Amino acid sequence: MSDTQPGLQRLVVVSNRLPVALKKVDDAWAVKQGAGGLVTAMAPVLKNRGGAWIGWAGASSDPDMDVDGLLSDFCSDAGYDLATVPLTKQEVDDYYFGFSNEIIWPLFHDLQTRCRFHPRYWRAYLDVNFKFAEVVARKSTPDDYIWVQDYHLMHQAFFLKSMGVKRNTGFFLHIPFPPPDIFMKLPWRWKVIQALTEYDLVGFQTVQDRRNFMGCLQRLMPEAKAEGRGAVVTVTVGNRRFRLGAFPISIDYNQFSGLAKRPEVAQQAFDVKEALRHRKIILGVDRLDYTKGIPERIQSFHTLLRRYPDMVGKVNFIQIAVPSREEVDEYKELRQEIEQLVGRVNGEFSFPGWVPVHYHYRSLPHEELVAYYSAADIGLVTPLRDGMNLVAKEYCACNNSGSGVLVLSEFAGAAAQLQKHAYLVNPYDMEGIAKALHRALHWGRDERKASMLKLREQVRKNNIFWWVDSFLQAGISKKLDDFPEIET
Ligand code: ADP
Ligand code: F6P
Repeated sequence: MSDTQPGLQRLVVVSNRLPVALKKVDDAWAVKQGAGGLVTAMAPVLKNRGGAWIGWAGASSDPDMDVDGLLSDFCSDAGYDLATVPLTKQEVDDYYFGFSNEIIWPLFHDLQTRCRFHPRYWRAYLDVNFKFAEVVARKSTPDDYIWVQDYHLMHQAFFLKSMGVKRNTGFFLHIPFPPPDIFMKLPWRWKVIQALTEYDLVGFQTVQDRRNFMGCLQRLMPEAKAEGRGAVVTVTVGNRRFRLGAFPISIDYNQFSGLAKRPEVAQQAFDVKEALRHRKIILGVDRLDYTKGIPERIQSFHTLLRRYPDMVGKVNFIQIAVPSREEVDEYKELRQEIEQLVGRVNGEFSFPGWVPVHYHYRSLPHEELVAYYSAADIGLVTPLRDGMNLVAKEYCACNNSGSGVLVLSEFAGAAAQLQKHAYLVNPYDMEGIAKALHRALHWGRDERKASMLKLREQVRKNNIFWWVDSFLQAGISKKLDDFPEIET
């Protein structure tokens, strides 16, 4: 490991998803913005530093598809190199939809009853990881820093080593790491843990995730020992030594806050409020995913209207959901469930001039999303479990007036950092959320401002560039003296 400063090594980011995805629209290929927190977080990092991003183009390879041609416009503007890993339909089905989305995603979010542990998924996961590692070996040099993102690609360091390719490697997990009782259900638990020990640095969103990992490691490899204090520790297991750290991911605060200040975006925010006749606005923004607690959130709003008649006609709930993993049956069913719940609340409470729930099922342009954030009186972020949840941070960054309230699930990684000044709720407790909403809607202006100011300060300081620097410093430098506990 060299003692190079974090700024000097070329960064090679490796993730399943690239910032853009190819999608077939009316028999023609179109280039769409990739969805989700990983893309939101990593795109400004690479734009700022340059380097390379290796990933899958989002569609199974097709002989007629000219991937490089389709992505050429994006590549010439991006400011970094893009390399794609082509995957067949069978690989996409078994590695991405299967292993990643039907095993690791539910298991790591504590929803084990949704897991389908098919051995064929595991084999596809290994084959695809090997395929990715071959591209990484070809597209990088020994001087590069290889930064692997998320649960789809936990075996990159393992395969690079098995090919005899020497690289400085770091891995960051964007989703939670489960406690031992849950992780132990994974039939391939030993191989996954062992593969993670092959990285030079493994990063998690929270200290709790890091502890969960250490607990699993010690159950499977009792000789493993951790030394050090603070956000980053050094682990020894057999003849391996590597680092483990907690690095809460974040957003480009200035970009969100600056956009919200632009006159045309402020106008859009005003238009949203005016269209709703300046009633209070509660806002939910999510990928449409069963971990996000959207049905429970709609039911909580329903409870608010039933329990507190003073709220009827006075408040709107806007839920914006970006389509995600649409090919998967559970996501199709969730979409139907949400539509039915929205219909039920609106059917029971609407009257001429007031429809309580506004539901948008689409990806919004960045400016429009920011306009909604700045128009909202309450950001309602209630995932059942979440690695971090960037929406919570985006809401605070866009709230330049400082008058909004963040109502946040205690099971989102973001709660570890924002708990002191957000209104924390249990996302399963619909009566509790209704009560919290009622209270938050009655908070005085000074109280709201004081809390939002602190929240914004926390997100501003610990922004995405702070996150990159902290991770790379832990990955590249020899000294670990500069790693205090994570600030809350
Ligand atoms: P996850 O990583 O599980 O998707 P996050 O909350 O961390 O969850 O990140 C979600 C990202 O997707 C955020 O950056 C958010 O702005 C973006 N997003 C969510 N819904 C929409 C939407 N309807 N239109 C555009 N972007 C969206
Ligand atoms: O942030 C968590 C994450 O799983 C990312 O790895 C992923 O890119 C994002 O959510 C969206 O999911 P998907 O890539 O499956 O559309």
